[in-house]
Order: sequence, then C-alpha cells, then structure tokens
Amino acid sequence: MVATTFLSSVITFLLPLFFRSVTARYAPCTQSFHQLIADKVNISNCKKLGTLGAQWGWKTYEPKERRIDVVFGAKLHENVGWLAWGINPGKKPQMVGTRAIIGIKLLDGSLSINTYNITSDTKLGCALKPSEEFHNMTMGYNADVEFHNMTMRYNADLDYYIIYASVILPRVYNISKLNYVWQVGYSALGTSPLMHPKTLQNFDSAETINLKSPVGQIVGEHRHHMRMVHGIVNIIGWGTFLPLGVIIARYFKYPLELEGWWYKLHISCQILGFSLGMTGWIIGLWLGCASKYYTFKTHRLYAMFIFPFTALQMFALLLRPGKTDEYRKYWNIYHHFLGYALIAVIIINIFHGIAIFKPDTTAWKVSYIAILATLALTVIIFEVYAWIKFRIKKAKSKPAAKAKSKPAATSIADEPSSPSTEGHDWAEES
Ligand SMILES: *[C@@H]1O[C@H](CO)[C@@H](O)[C@H](O)[C@H]1NC(C)=O
Ligand SMILES: *[C@@H]1O[C@H](CO)[C@@H](O)[C@H](O)[C@H]1NC(C)=O
Ligand SMILES: *[C@@H]1O[C@H](CO)[C@@H](O)[C@H](O)[C@H]1NC(C)=O
Ligand SMILES: *[C@@H]1O[C@H](CO)[C@@H](O)[C@H](O)[C@H]1NC(C)=O
Ligand SMILES: *[C@@H]1O[C@H](CO)[C@@H](O)[C@H](O)[C@H]1NC(C)=O
Repeated sequence: MVATTFLSSVITFLLPLFFRSVTARYAPCTQSFHQLIADKVNISNCKKLGTLGAQWGWKTYEPKERRIDVVFGAKLHENVGWLAWGINPGKKPQMVGTRAIIGIKLLDGSLSINTYNITSDTKLGCALKPSEEFHNMTMGYNADVEFHNMTMRYNADLDYYIIYASVILPRVYNISKLNYVWQVGYSALGTSPLMHPKTLQNFDSAETINLKSPVGQIVGEHRHHMRMVHGIVNIIGWGTFLPLGVIIARYFKYPLELEGWWYKLHISCQILGFSLGMTGWIIGLWLGCASKYYTFKTHRLYAMFIFPFTALQMFALLLRPGKTDEYRKYWNIYHHFLGYALIAVIIINIFHGIAIFKPDTTAWKVSYIAILATLALTVIIFEVYAWIKFRIKKAKSKPAAKAKSKPAATSIADEPSSPSTEGHDWAEES
C-alpha cells in the first residue's frame, strides 16, 4: 500500500515534467518576437529554441533560390557578450565545422557583426578571428556558404539582441536536414568571441531541422528525451524505491511487527529500485557516450560509486550469513552502514544531476524535494509511533518505575539489526 501510494505520487510529480519538456522543444516563438521581426523580414516560420532563451525565424526561397533569410535573437544579460548562429555542412549538428555569424556587444555598447569559420583549432583554444571569405565570393562560385546583408540590432522592449542575415547555401546543405548551431557567450576580445559558459544548455544548442516542414520539424531528438527518461527512472529507482526499502527494513519489523512481511517487502522494493536504477544507469552511460564533447565528471564519479556498491548490497541476498552465524551481527552493521552511505550519495547525486539541467531545474527540484519530504514524514511518523509503543510497553511492564524511565527516540536502535541515529538521515538530507 505504501509502495503504491509512493509510486502514484512519484508519477504525479514527474510525468508533467516529461511532457512539459518534450513539448517545450517544439514551441513557436513568442508573439512579441514574431511581431518585431515580421516588420523587417517576411519570415515564413518562427521557433523558440530549446536552450539559452533564443528564438529564430526564417524564410526559404526554394526551389527558386538556395537562399534563406534568417533572424536570430537572444538576451545578453552582461556588459559584454556575443550571440552566434551558424550552419554545419557535416553529418551532425555540432560546433566544429560550423560557418557562423557572430554578433558581439562590446564594453562601450557598440555592436559588431562578422562571419567566422569554426574549426577544431577553435575548440583547442585558438583565437576565433572573423573570416571575410564568406562574403567575398561571387554568386555562382559557391565554394562555401555566403552570408549577406548582416545586421545586428538591440530591441529594448524585448531586451533582445537580434541578428539579421541572408544566407546562400551551396549544394552540400540540404534544407530538409539542415544542421544548425546557436550559442551565447559572455566574453570577447575585440572581434574575437571567447569561450562560452560550459553548461548543458551551451552544449545542447544544436539541432537538425527540416526547414521545408511548416513547423520546422526537428530531426533526431533522442538525446533530450533520453535525458528526461534517465532523470525520471533514476529518481524513481535509486531515489525513491531504495530509500523506501530501507524504511521498510527499519520500521516494518518494529514498531509495525510485520515479522513475516518486512523481509519480502524489503527485497521486492530493493530489487524493483535496483532494476529501475540500473536501467537509468545504462541510459546514463549511453548519454555519456553520445555527448563526446562534454562530460559531467562529478555526476559520473558518484554514479560510478553508486552502481557497484548497490550491486554489492543486492548480493546480500545471496551472501548474508545465516541467522545463527556469529558474524551475522557484524554483517548487519556493514549492510546497514553501506546502505545509509549509499542513500546519502544517491540523494546528493540526484541533486547534482538536476543541477545539470540548469536553468530549468525548479520543477525537478520541487518534485524530488516533495518525494524526500514524504519519505522523511514517513520516518518521523514511524519514529513517533515506535516511541509511543515503547513507552506503553514500558509503562505496562513496570508501572512503578514509570516516573524514572527516560525513553528516548533512539531506544529502538537497541534492536540488534538497527545501528543508531540513522533514522535521522532522512530529515537532514531533505
Ligand atoms: C510575404 O511572403 C508571402 C508569400 O511568400 C507574400 O504573399 C506576402 O506578400 C509577403 N509579404 C511581404 C510584406 O512581403
Ligand atoms: C572553413 O574551414 C574548413 C575546414 O574546417 C575549410 O575546409 C573551409 O574552406 C573553410 N571555409 C572558409 C570560407 O574559410
Ligand atoms: C576577395 O577575393 C579576391 C579574389 O579571390 C581577393 O583578391 C581579395 O583579397 C579578397 N578580399 C578579401 C577581403 O578577402
Ligand atoms: C541585400 O540587400 C540589398 C539591398 O536591400 C538587396 O538588393 C540584396 O538582394 C540583398 N542580398 C541578399 C542576398 O539578400
Ligand atoms: C535531403 O534530405 C531529404 C530527407 O532526408 C532527402 O529525402 C533528400 O533526398 C535530400 N536531398 C538531397 C539533395 O540530398
């Protein structure tokens, strides 16, 4: 019953997150942005981008001309900053190989806009210099992309910096499968933009799009969905079922006195939690491989600790000494100690993982804090119940000594299978 209540509450918390984030990726641009750019460019489509608060609109001229008109806008909330939009003729939407337009806001408030050829040297840290070749080509020559009529403007009403340009695409680009990249950064040296921040948003700012489709359909969105699944499955598996199993182990024996049940429930809960967790962990590995240009080291390090040691805890099923074995007591202490340590690390790592979703972390945080609070409340209720039960028992057995006895909440820790103070991990962690 407890498990179903949890499961349903967990699902209620997490499902909206999933659908919200999926639909958010397909959003049309805001009315105000649309209106602003429609005055200057006759755009056919306009789209809110998944990251960095950016939006862009475009118009295609196919099949008459291989030209697209592009309007790209984003906020720059610091004194110096730059915004970039570019296309990549390679197989994947990625930074290296991108032909980009970069607009820079300089410290004196002036705006400069240039074209840049982003190569693997840029990634290695070489200064990114404007590349004039992109507009020194005669139409028809078409060796590379041509950028024409570029301007950058600031709109105070929306607090948006906006880049306008016409782009002539050579044959290597297929507008049914156009790889494009956008970026925002906050440091620049003259006309050289410097490294952008290294958050997931900045690495995630690339897509493949079908510009011919009326809504600008996105091609290949697996990684984003997998990340959502990874988060949700891990929160349920590691973050909810495993702690719930610990609560069952600790309180179902006493004060609930479900002698015959607690063990079965405990292992069912842990097996379910571990299976879900392992699925999430494998998805995490896949995500790590899929994003070869960046890693989240701390998150991965914690995960590399959690998985093998939790697997070891699962082997407890096979390895634990018999009830009469003299080592059983020590074994219990070890199993409990490792269990509590793992739960602590799991909770820390879940918050670490959530932080990677910056800045859209609020809903995730609130959901997981609500789950932890529910677990903590359960622990408190059981602790109080155990304490009351203990007092009643004591009062019954020694009515005369009632005034002297000072039962403490930790008293149930005297039970052979329960090391002391652990019941409070919950309240603190949440
Ligand atoms: C915009 O383009 C559409 C179709 O391409 C055309 O019918 C319309 O007149 C254009 N509007 C302006 C203001 O150029
Ligand atoms: C841009 O760089 C690529 C190599 O990454 C090179 O092949 C291409 O010719 C360059 N284009 C321009 C216009 O400089
Ligand atoms: C433009 O191209 C011509 C011929 O290819 C070349 O002589 C000239 O230096 C180029 N100009 C710039 C600014 O790159
Ligand atoms: C650039 O702007 C000029 C003047 O408005 C226009 O005649 C020309 O066609 C534009 N070039 C492109 C490639 O859009
Ligand atoms: C462009 O991509 C679409 C969809 O993948 C494909 O059907 C079409 O043949 C491609 N066109 C060219 C010229 O490669």
